[in-house]
Amino acid sequence: MNKPAYPFREIGIGHYPMGNSPVAPEDSKRLPSLMNLNDAAASSKLVYVHIPFCDSICPFCPYPKAFNEQGARQEYLTALFRELEMYGFTPQIRNSSVEALYIGGGTPSVLNEEEITALFEQLQSTLPMHSVEEITFEGNPASFTAGKLKLLHALGVNRISLGVQTFNDELGRRLGLLQTCEDSLRTIQQSQEAGISNVSLDLMYNLPGQTMEEWLEDLAKVVELGIGHVTLFPLKLIPGFGLFKRIAGGELPPCGDLELEQQMYVEACHYLESQGYAVESTYDFVRPGGHHIYSRKHFDDHLDLLSVGLGAFGDVGGYAYQNVKLLPEYVKKVTSGNLPVALGYEVKADDLPNQFLAMGLRRTAIDRQLFQRKFGIFPEEMFPELFDKFVKAGLVEIREDTIALKRFEGLFWGNNVCKEFCEEHIKMAFPK
Ligand SMILES: C[S@@+](CC[C@H](N)C(=O)[O-])C[C@H]1O[C@@H](n2cnc3c(N)ncnc32)[C@H](O)[C@@H]1O
Ligand code: SF4
Repeated sequence: MNKPAYPFREIGIGHYPMGNSPVAPEDSKRLPSLMNLNDAAASSKLVYVHIPFCDSICPFCPYPKAFNEQGARQEYLTALFRELEMYGFTPQIRNSSVEALYIGGGTPSVLNEEEITALFEQLQSTLPMHSVEEITFEGNPASFTAGKLKLLHALGVNRISLGVQTFNDELGRRLGLLQTCEDSLRTIQQSQEAGISNVSLDLMYNLPGQTMEEWLEDLAKVVELGIGHVTLFPLKLIPGFGLFKRIAGGELPPCGDLELEQQMYVEACHYLESQGYAVESTYDFVRPGGHHIYSRKHFDDHLDLLSVGLGAFGDVGGYAYQNVKLLPEYVKKVTSGNLPVALGYEVKADDLPNQFLAMGLRRTAIDRQLFQRKFGIFPEEMFPELFDKFVKAGLVEIREDTIALKRFEGLFWGNNVCKEFCEEHIKMAFPK
């Protein structure tokens, strides 16, 4: 391996800009005006709903989550429904149209059928869902059932995202996963039988002691099962987390170095492309039938994102925010009639070129001419030093119509490239 372009790989940017200033209790009442919720102009929206519960807490996962327990679930859903009402009855949301909805987690599949039905009834009655094109429901293969999948299909869900991580049960055991290969195979088949053919899988790679051969076996399974969309995450070991400690203490074999991680990524690109998949983002591979409308409208079109639930990130009416991350605080805030926003940021015109590049390049290329029409200057003229550095390092390619991450060096380091367009306060929010 040549000298790496960066000392370590960044996690992908999901949102830009993001809330950064704490919202004090006395400022909560100003949130509706900061989000322009009284503005009645028609607009298009994406909606994200966070269901934080998991049947088991994976020892590597940094996402906002809580242990699944029926009492906590009911209390949470009551608060979540109240939060939806606070937004849903405002002029801005009433006059918008929801284009895509993503119910993520945590593990939404831990909800029982009654709770799933109640959630969809609440979404239908509080949000303008008349022209929604895509509804994704995320979950874990261990908690989906044939009954839940049939119900989800009947309620309009047309995409399932499954956290498989690996089909290899020995690697799954090292990761402390609840699900087995059998659970994953069963859920994929049951989704298809329920009529939801757009099934997306999350796989992780560079797992403790994982060989290249084992990695290629996981990918071959994806192809064999006819999956249309796969998201490949390099395992990020987070200091202080259980998995990190088990590896550091010698209980588990180590993960490969950066060189092996790069080989695994490049092999995955070659193999999946040979099987008809296209590289769609720094993480995603898609073949016909595996489209993800929500992702395109979020990363390329920067549609407003109304996010509800624990720790959720949103961007509504020119205000970027993140909800509180602790369950009792979330319930308390909403129950007292306040939006549960912890951090906020008023988006400025100056943020938009950075947003265009930081989010757009995650999807591997941006429209250079569109950038010029929007901002009156080409990207490489606005950020000459950065683009000079990227071109010299072989990370991006500037063409007449597009600026693209280069294969494969630029794709491998794509999240680092994106992050260079973030303001300092956003960079600070990312774990190393
Ligand atoms: C928010 S989780 C939701 C998926 C679902 N709860 C499940 O696990 O079945 C989204 C994905 O992030 C990935 N992920 C979680 N922790 C990670 C880590 N430390 N490093 C890399 N990817 C991670 C996993 O692939 C996971 O499926
Ligand atoms: S990976 Fe999924 S199931 Fe595991 S703790 Fe994270 S959100 Fe929960």
